[in-house]
Amino acid sequence: MDLPVDDRLLVGIDGADDAGVFRLDKSRALVQTVDFFTPMVDDPYIFGQVAAANALSDVYAMGGVPLTAMNLVAFPITRLDPGILREILKGGLDKVREAGAVLAGGHSIDDPEIKYGLAVTGEVHPEAFWTNRGARPGDLLLLTKPLGNGILATALKAGFATEEEISPALDWMVRLNRLPPEEDAAAGGWRRAVHACTDVTGFGLIGHLREMIADERVGALVELHRVPLLERAEELCSLGMFPAGGHRNRDHFGRFLLGEDLADPLLRDILFDPQTSGGLLLAVAPDEVDTVILAFNRAGCGSWPIGRFSERDPGRIMLV
Ligand code: CO
Ligand code: CO
Ligand code: CO
Repeated sequence: MDLPVDDRLLVGIDGADDAGVFRLDKSRALVQTVDFFTPMVDDPYIFGQVAAANALSDVYAMGGVPLTAMNLVAFPITRLDPGILREILKGGLDKVREAGAVLAGGHSIDDPEIKYGLAVTGEVHPEAFWTNRGARPGDLLLLTKPLGNGILATALKAGFATEEEISPALDWMVRLNRLPPEEDAAAGGWRRAVHACTDVTGFGLIGHLREMIADERVGALVELHRVPLLERAEELCSLGMFPAGGHRNRDHFGRFLLGEDLADPLLRDILFDPQTSGGLLLAVAPDEVDTVILAFNRAGCGSWPIGRFSERDPGRIMLV
């Protein structure tokens, strides 16, 4: 495709990054992203929260702060109770508010299938945003939410689990990937320790980790026993509740794995599980990793070191 060229566009559509970044002036750049999907839960309020947390996450993944959000709505307006739509929008709005952003508008269409999401605009310093590339040898790999929500959603659909039973997973899905404040004295300056960042969504941990090393300058190593898993994810995966998207991810990204024959096949599969509103994946300078973990923990977020980057096997992911 022949795209218009503009040097203010700092991150565009090549590189498969989480959001676009456009420089306004020396100290400000816009971060723009859009995301929407069909419900994975029956509860409309929870669905609205998940969709909004997921859309906002792409701004956080660039190191940005969300400013405005616009609703994107497809809803069978003549067939379903408009109260359902109100609950979805309420869920979305509550998350936009929690993010400190404002709702600036939106657009809705009559559609046989419910879809909801947001277009989000944020702000970042034009020299201090993160991309999914840039991990350096020796960097540690941090993940901020446990894996397996695709498996749990599949089990819910198949009647193998109730919404009640998967509520710990839903709690994580509605959680914002909000970044810790920089002015926190105990953990200040943590931002410069982050060399690359993305969030775990449809391509699963392996797919998004592969994007981080796709320029084949570094390789990654994942310590399977350190990867945090949602309660029941392993058990339900062993019962065959592995989503179609997970199979596609394994077919597509499996060739980038090393050491997989020695890995527990169940744990390996969960690394391919497509996540909705998954956690951030960060490449962090090793000598400052404690500061970053402290910053995330003080802000009430999870942060698990699950591996590291190295010069070995560039572009590949070693499982140990
Ligand atoms: Co993303
Ligand atoms: Co996205
Ligand atoms: Co309109």
